[in-house]
Amino acid sequence: MRIPSGIPGLDKLIGGGFEEGTINLVTGKTGTGKSIFSMQFLYNGAKNYNEKGLYITTGEVSKNIKKQAKTLGWDIDSLEKNGMLKIIELEPYDIDKLIEKITLNKGFMEAKRVVIDSVSMFELYIQDPYKIRKTLYSVLQKLRDMGKVVLAIAEVQEDSKNLSRFGVIEFMVDSVIVLQYLEIAEHKRSLTIRKMRMTNHSTDIHPFEIGPDGIKVHSVA
Ligand SMILES: Nc1ncnc2c1ncn2[C@@H]1O[C@H](COP(=O)(O)OP(=O)(O)OP(=O)(O)O)[C@@H](O)[C@H]1O
Ligand SMILES: [Mg+2]
Repeated sequence: MRIPSGIPGLDKLIGGGFEEGTINLVTGKTGTGKSIFSMQFLYNGAKNYNEKGLYITTGEVSKNIKKQAKTLGWDIDSLEKNGMLKIIELEPYDIDKLIEKITLNKGFMEAKRVVIDSVSMFELYIQDPYKIRKTLYSVLQKLRDMGKVVLAIAEVQEDSKNLSRFGVIEFMVDSVIVLQYLEIAEHKRSLTIRKMRMTNHSTDIHPFEIGPDGIKVHSVA
């Protein structure tokens, strides 16, 4: 079953939404809109589809995530109060305990939509590439088996052409959405669906804007 993102203009580009039991990488350089994209996905799920959401943050404190959401008219506090959305802050060290911490969390068990912002920190904390692959593989597989829709955020450095910091995770996920910011372009923000398994997705470059209600994706420039 497809789970609509509810982000205006996006779902029709990806066959109606994200497939249940998939891991979807949202990747981009700093300030490209990754966190807003992710929160909009959770907010829409809670508000319009009665689906609970969990936002796992390794970088920002939840207070600032809520403040950012407020600037876009999203009241996270009230969704938290009625149990539809939960934000948990995690320290990205000791990945083995981390998995336990996530999977035993009540908010996680109940959530249909899960955001991990970001997975780059995990990559940084595991030095051994074999262990990165092995650990990520088992975590991602577990999440798929539970039928959740996961957005995994990957941070890309300014001078990099890669889709993630170490060029590993993009091969292990079901889809990759790339967010870009090009100062010189007419449409500064754009989005491409780099891959989406089992989906006849758009292969165009789609300009998007971050307006007063969040992200709006346009058809083609
Ligand atoms: N209320 C708003 N209205 C319009 N644009 C906004 C608003 N709030 C934030 N923005 C834009 O969104 C950007 C931040 O987006 P976001 O935090 O999602 O980026 P990110 O990719 O997660 O960045 P980072 O890599 O630093 O975590 C800001 O730099 C600003 O350009
Ligand atoms: Mg962010």
